[in-house]
Order: sequence, then C-alpha cells, then structure tokens
Amino acid sequence: MSGGLHQKYLDESLGEIPESMGILKSAWRSPSNIALVKYWGKKPLQIPANPSLSFTLTNSYTETNVTVRQHAGNEQELEYIFEGGHNEAFEARISGYLRNISTYFPFLTGCKIRIESRNTFPHSSGIASSASSMSALALGICSIERQIPGRSKDEDFYKKASYMARLGSGSAARSVYGGFVSWGRMEGFEHTSDEFATPLAETAGSAFTSLCDAVLIISPDKKSVSSSQGHALMDDHPYASGRYLQASENIISLRSAIIENDLESFIQIAENEAFTLHGLMMSSDPAFLLLKPGTLKVLSRIQQFRKEEGIALAFTLDAGPNVHLIYPGYERGKVLAFIRDELLGFCHQEQWIDDRMGKGPEELPV
Ligand code: DP6
Repeated sequence: MSGGLHQKYLDESLGEIPESMGILKSAWRSPSNIALVKYWGKKPLQIPANPSLSFTLTNSYTETNVTVRQHAGNEQELEYIFEGGHNEAFEARISGYLRNISTYFPFLTGCKIRIESRNTFPHSSGIASSASSMSALALGICSIERQIPGRSKDEDFYKKASYMARLGSGSAARSVYGGFVSWGRMEGFEHTSDEFATPLAETAGSAFTSLCDAVLIISPDKKSVSSSQGHALMDDHPYASGRYLQASENIISLRSAIIENDLESFIQIAENEAFTLHGLMMSSDPAFLLLKPGTLKVLSRIQQFRKEEGIALAFTLDAGPNVHLIYPGYERGKVLAFIRDELLGFCHQEQWIDDRMGKGPEELPV
C-alpha cells in the first residue's frame, strides 16, 4: 500500500533499541468482540470488503506479556508460551505475524522476544480468540516501541495499535477500543477507514449502554472452516456484490438504531446479519453448514420468547454453531431465567458464557 499511514509508520520506524535500554516489557489485557454487522470477505493486506460493527466484551479476554531484549545475533528469536505450554499452531501464526509487521518495527529483527499469552475463555467457544489475542499482542508491541526515547507517547497510539492488530486478524482491529466500534470505510463518515477501527463517537441510546452477551455453547467442536478460508469463499461468491452493498446499508442503519435507542431496528439488523453470514456459507462453493439442530432450536425459542414476553433480545452468530444472545442489562433477571429454564438443555454440558459490553483493553503492570 502506498502513502497514508503505511508511509507514516515506515517513516517513524526505528532500526534498533538503544543498548542502554536492556530489557523492555509490556503487558496488556485485551477483550474479544462480537460483530453485529459482519466482516466476511477481504482484499489483500487485510482490507475488508465491507465495513463491520461490533461491541467489545468484558470477561472474554487475552492477557499477553511481551519481553524484548537485544541479543548478539542478527536473527530474531521467538519464544511463545500459550497458557503455560508450547502450542505450535499458535506459535507459527505469531511468528508469521511478527515477520509481517517487521517493516514497521525493524528494531524487533535483532531481538529475543518472549510472548506469554492466556485466555479467560475456552478455545472454540464461539468467542473470537484471534480478536483478543492479536489486539493484545499489537498493543504490547506498540507499547514496547513507545518506551524507546524519542517516540511519540500518546498521540494516535490506539490508531496505530488498531492498524497493527488488523494485520494479525481483521476483527482484532476493533478490539482496541471499548463500546461499539466500526472498522471499514463508511460512505459519508470521513473518520472511518479500512486500515483501522474507530469507536462510535456519538452516545449510544440508554438500552445500549449495558448490553449483555450470553454465549450459548451448542457445540465446542473445532470449526470446519477457518476465518481465512471463509473470507476466501467470498472471492468468487455469486452474491458477493449484493452482500457488500447490504452490509454498507446495514451498518448505517444499525449505527442510527444504536444512537436513537431503536431496539426494534437493532434486533432486525442483527438477526439479518447472522442469517446472512450463514446463508453466504451455505451458498458458497464449497458450501459449509455450520449450524447444528440445537442452534436452530435455540434461535426459534429466542424469537418465540421475544414475541410472547415482549422482551427486546436478539441473537447473532459467529462462523460456528454457538449462539450469542444479546440483551439490554435491565432485562437480565428475565433473560437469565429464560436461559436456565429453556435454553441450557440445548447447550453442550449446559455451558454458556456470561459476558457484556466493556470499556476496551487495559495496560497491566509489568
Ligand atoms: C465471522 O477477523 O477472524 O467473526 O482477518 O482472517 O483473521 P481474519 O478473520 P477474522 O474474521 C472474523 C469473521 C467474523 C465476523 C466479524 O468478526 O466481523
């Protein structure tokens, strides 16, 4: 990519850490997020095919410690520890990521890097671990860079972290901020960008300030399609152009619904996006059916409960069978009883994750 932020980050990149600095450390806790308008389809360099909008969670997060030290060799050495042990698949992804961003952080090339990471939520639970882990790592690396004398301290720190997180995983770009966050250029909204995410600038309506997400684990099995494969399915998808147009319209309407406290439109758009994501997978070549019978039962129970009780609750889905039940905090009592009495029976070993909207990442003491 030429010009713009790419050039700015190249221009300010730093070849070496001054020897006197010894060891540099950072630690971040970064939450996952759940998309309401889905990112599904991308162009080279992690540029999204359409804008997406999510909210950042609280309890489902990754904590990542990064330690960087100069060493005698010119080669980078990486030690990656996930939840106390080695994980080759994750290590390969992290090592590829560090290679990708080395043009922006050339000082990392001659260093020993130790990364330790842990998640608060189980793998394959329907919570995007790449969003929390890649944002935690990008924030950690940007923080290390910020400690080097002469670096700008705070100006645009999060914008840069979001840009770098995007290069690791698209959805991670959004986890750098709390609350509602969009990523991808939106027509008429000059501050939005394909290269980094931006938090919703306006105040959300009162129903949306305490939004909760109950993640119902229908099946803990590993997904049969990875996100990268899934995005690639959109390259030749017969409905791609219609989908990108729909997402651009949905995001504008959803944004208005959130600001105007319009729960009805919010529910309609969130569920339309969930069905569309799976509709796209079912109509791609090859096709993927990730929904389980239990998923469909839960979705129809949610719709029926909404009708019967007049409670504003919505579902959304990720690229898997698990259901995210989204509801305003003031309905919590009734929704918890509904989950306990009617939905847990459909969940694998009655598992679910109780989460809610959060304030975004936090830097931890090292
Ligand atoms: C269905 O961000 O995981 O969760 O950029 O290839 O890492 P990569 O993909 P990823 O895709 C997320 C897809 C989604 C929708 C969303 O979060 O917007």
